[in-house]
Amino acid sequence: MLRVAVVGSGPSGCYTAQHLVQLDPGARVDVLDRLPCPYGLVRYGVAPDHEKIKSLQGSLRAVLEHERVRFLGAVPVGPDGVPAARLRELYHAVVYCVGAAADRHLGVPGEGLPGSWSATEFVSWYSAHPDAADAGFLRGARSAVVVGVGNVAVDVTRMLARGAGELRPTDMPHAALTALAASEVEEIHMVGRRGPSQARFTTKELRELGTLPDTAVQVDAAEAALDPSFADPSGLPPPRRRNVEVLRGWTAPPRPDARRLIRLRFFLRPVELLARDGRVGAVRFERTAPDGRGGVTGTGRFEEVEGQLVLRSVGYRGVPLEGLPFDAATGTVPHLGGRVLRGGAVAPGEYVAGWIKRGPTGVIGTNRSCAKDTVTSLLQDAPSLTARALPDDPLPALRAEGVDPVPWQGWQAIERAESRLGASLGRGVVKLPDWESLLTAARGGDASVPRS
Ligand SMILES: Cc1cc2nc3c(=O)[nH]c(=O)nc-3n(C[C@H](O)[C@H](O)[C@H](O)COP(=O)(O)OP(=O)(O)OC[C@H]3O[C@@H](n4cnc5c(N)ncnc54)[C@H](O)[C@@H]3O)c2cc1C
Ligand SMILES: NC(=O)c1ccc[n+]([C@@H]2O[C@H](COP(=O)([O-])OP(=O)(O)OC[C@H]3O[C@@H](n4cnc5c(N)ncnc54)[C@H](OP(=O)(O)O)[C@@H]3O)[C@@H](O)[C@H]2O)c1
Repeated sequence: MLRVAVVGSGPSGCYTAQHLVQLDPGARVDVLDRLPCPYGLVRYGVAPDHEKIKSLQGSLRAVLEHERVRFLGAVPVGPDGVPAARLRELYHAVVYCVGAAADRHLGVPGEGLPGSWSATEFVSWYSAHPDAADAGFLRGARSAVVVGVGNVAVDVTRMLARGAGELRPTDMPHAALTALAASEVEEIHMVGRRGPSQARFTTKELRELGTLPDTAVQVDAAEAALDPSFADPSGLPPPRRRNVEVLRGWTAPPRPDARRLIRLRFFLRPVELLARDGRVGAVRFERTAPDGRGGVTGTGRFEEVEGQLVLRSVGYRGVPLEGLPFDAATGTVPHLGGRVLRGGAVAPGEYVAGWIKRGPTGVIGTNRSCAKDTVTSLLQDAPSLTARALPDDPLPALRAEGVDPVPWQGWQAIERAESRLGASLGRGVVKLPDWESLLTAARGGDASVPRS
């Protein structure tokens, strides 16, 4: 009987477990996560106002409730928990699905000024990730600059523009709701270093910006027209053409009565974050021009955009896991068809799937086929892997070594505590925002009123 540990319960971990139990009627899978809560970025990344996408948790839940799948929460793999080598001893195979939790850096002066944050930190805060700090993101901010024009940039821009009435029905933690409701941000500049036809956001997400109550969206026609495809997008591939068509609809002067203005800026690359009164006050950009090959060149002309809050949304980045090889250039684990490569050779019994395998791009569904490819490799290797005799259940050995997992019932207790918390606040489900309240709830205590 094949016994597999899947490390990470995000989409790639859940899809890996699903394919394993579907394709091998004898396989048993433990899904370990460093958090007491499952679902990875579906719980801690997908924006709280996107309830439909969040509801995908229902299908991931069905995987984790499968009779041959077991969720083991609050089990970090690595130096602070179970060493990778130990896991390899206890299971026939280990599939690492640990995502890409860190952020890419801009590498410009002033990046570390107070008031300058990665989108990763901001997203983690409004998503109630227990590692996130309440950094006072919105304190004193009237103008915000979002660097980058991908879907995460659209998410954080939208969250800055949403009013309390729209956020209240979400499961956003109460402190974040209170802070966003009191926000004085009136202008949000979302800035791309290339042109409208090269932006990475998708049209559905872009279009949504134009539907926000009390919010106007503006594109500077002259600036956007530096992109030759802006005037005539007909030659672009359909997804990019649709983006440009939406952007072309926003070149009129903004409604004067709107409370907030989202300005979409292009051909500006950040060169420095400027301090005012000890914290960030503006971003200095260099105007760029298309190079005719999809890239841009600097023009030597500069512009400052005011912002007391700067969110750097330039992509996520994988982090090395002790005991696993890591390619620092791509932020991924080297692999061949999902089989981990050590020094160029396949490491028997070790696999990867999801963002740690491919890098931090792709929507939730992309991880399904990615996981299937990895599982196909694993099942090809299974006859040699299962030749090794293992204890029937690795959990007693892990427990004897001090590991105390939060079981599925513990996660269900967290869900109940989040319902109770919401009811006590006159809201729906409200997420518990810190380790203490999550673990108290999971271990059977009452965590309906968290400290923060
Ligand atoms: C802000 C944001 C919003 C997004 N919104 C959408 C959206 O609306 N729609 C969409 O389709 N896609 C969206 N995506 C993309 C989608 O979330 C990803 O494609 C997907 O989550 C990647 O899955 P993953 O399993 O590889 O990683 P993750 O979802 O990050 O899961 C990794 C899991 O591994 C665990 N882990 C990490 N290290 C360890 C360790 N050492 N030991 C044990 N466990 C560990 C983590 O706790 C986590 O649970 C969004 C991405 C981001 C960043
Ligand atoms: N609703 C959804 O479906 C949803 C929501 C959120 C995320 N996601 C997915 O999650 C993945 C990650 O999204 P993401 O937005 O983090 O990444 P992304 O799509 O890769 O976008 C990153 C953005 O940062 C810019 N950038 C990178 N380095 C820069 C630099 N040094 N200076 C200025 N700009 C820089 C990029 O510009 P260049 O193009 O010029 O490099 C790009 O605009 C994507 O696949 C996305 O679709 C989906």
